[in-house]
Amino acid sequence: MSDFQVVVGVAGGIAAYKACHLVRDFKESGANVRVVPTPNALNFVGAATFEALSGHPVDTGVFSRVDEVQHVRVGQEADLVVVAPATADVIARIAAGRADDLLTATVLVATCPVVIAPAMHTEMWHNAATQANVATLRSRGITVLEPASGRLTGKDTGPGRLLEPRQIAELARTVASTGPIARTLEGKRVVISAGGTQENIDPVRFIGNRSSGKQGFALAEIAAQRGAQVTVVAGDTNDLDTPAGAEVVRVRSTRDLEAAMNERVAEADVVIMAAAVADFRPERVATSKLKKGQADDALSTLRLKENPDVLRGIVDKRNARETKAVIVGFAAETDDVLANGRAKLERKGADLLMVNSVAGGKVFGEERNSGWMLGADGSEVEVPDGTKMEVAVRIWDAIETYGA
Ligand SMILES: Cc1cc2nc3c(=O)[nH]c(=O)nc-3n(C[C@H](O)[C@H](O)[C@H](O)COP(=O)(O)O)c2cc1C
Repeated sequence: MSDFQVVVGVAGGIAAYKACHLVRDFKESGANVRVVPTPNALNFVGAATFEALSGHPVDTGVFSRVDEVQHVRVGQEADLVVVAPATADVIARIAAGRADDLLTATVLVATCPVVIAPAMHTEMWHNAATQANVATLRSRGITVLEPASGRLTGKDTGPGRLLEPRQIAELARTVASTGPIARTLEGKRVVISAGGTQENIDPVRFIGNRSSGKQGFALAEIAAQRGAQVTVVAGDTNDLDTPAGAEVVRVRSTRDLEAAMNERVAEADVVIMAAAVADFRPERVATSKLKKGQADDALSTLRLKENPDVLRGIVDKRNARETKAVIVGFAAETDDVLANGRAKLERKGADLLMVNSVAGGKVFGEERNSGWMLGADGSEVEVPDGTKMEVAVRIWDAIETYGA
C-alpha cells in the first residue's frame, strides 16, 4: 500500500453517500484512506460502509481510542484532507477553529493541503455567513471548491450541488501536487475550445481525429475553480464528463466551432484554442450513403477543401480591436518541437502557445501531458510532465503571468 495518507472527512448532508465513491477513487489510485465522518454523517451512511471501503476503523469523536491520541494523530499523519460533502455547519465550525469532533480536530491539526467540497441548498450556500466562512477558509490557504449547479435534495435545483466524486478526487490530487487553488480569475470571462471536430463525408461517415478533449476540459475546470466564468465550445469528447462550473456548447464541424467561438470572443478576457480542429473537410458532402464501386468512385477519391483557420480569425479580431482577449493556441508537433512551436506562434499571431510533442501517438487521449508555454514576449516556460489537470494549472499560471 502507498504511503500517501488521505483523510476523507464526511459531514451530515444528503450527498454523504457520494463520499463512498470518493473513498473508492482514492483507494484505487493507491492511497491509504482514513474516513472521518461527523456524528451527523452517520445518520446518512453507516460506519460499516466506510470501514469496509477504507479498510480502517471509523470514529467520530475525540474520546474514541484515546490511547492512540487520535484527535491529533489523524491530522498529523495526513498528506491530504478532503472534506466531502462539507455542510454549512462543518464549514462554520472549521472557520471558527473549533475541534468538537474528530473531523474538525483533524482539520485544525493538519498542516497538509486541505480541500473542502461544499454541498448544501442554494440559500445556505449564498447566505452571507457561509460566504464569509468560505472567504475566511480561502484566505487561510484552504481550497474550498465551488459547488456545482444542479439538482439538490427534493425538487430544488441551483448552485450547491456536490461536485462529482471523480472531479473532487482529481482536483484534490492536483491541490496536493501543485498547491491550493486561489480565486485569481474572479470576474474574468474565459472561452475554451476542446475536443476534436468532425467533418461529414456522407450521412454515416466523417473525418475525425484522436483528440479526447481532456486537456481543454481540465483547463475549464481549473479556470472555474479559480473563479472565472467559463464557456467551453466542445467538439467530440467521447464520454468525458463535462467540466464542473462551465457552460458547455456542443459543436461538430470546424465551421460550427468557428461560429460558436466568434460569437463569444468579443466579451472574453482569455480565449484558449485547445480543440483539435479538422484542417480539411470533404469538398462535397453526399446526401446519401456512398457505396463501394459507385460510378464516380467518390469514396476512394475523396476531394478535400481547406477549413477556415479559427485561431488566425480570432487573432484578426483582436488586431481589429473587436476583442481584448489574451489568445492562447495549442500546437502538437512531432519533431523540432520548440522551433516549430515558435514559428507557429509567430505565424498565427497568438499571445501564447502551448506546444507539446505528440511523436508516436503521445498525448492524444492520454492522462498525462507536458510541453512548453511560449509567449509572444519571448518567454518560454517549461510545463513538466503531469496529469492534464496539473498541466492545466501550469498553463493558467503562465497565462496569468503573461497578463490575463
Ligand atoms: C435530510 C437532511 C439533509 C441535509 N442535507 C444537508 C446538506 O446537504 N448540506 C448541509 O449543509 N446541511 C444539510 N443538512 C443539515 C445538517 O445535517 C445539519 O446542519 C447538521 O448540523 C450538520 O452537522 P455536521 O456538519 O456536523 O455533519 C441536512 C439535514 C437533513 C435532516
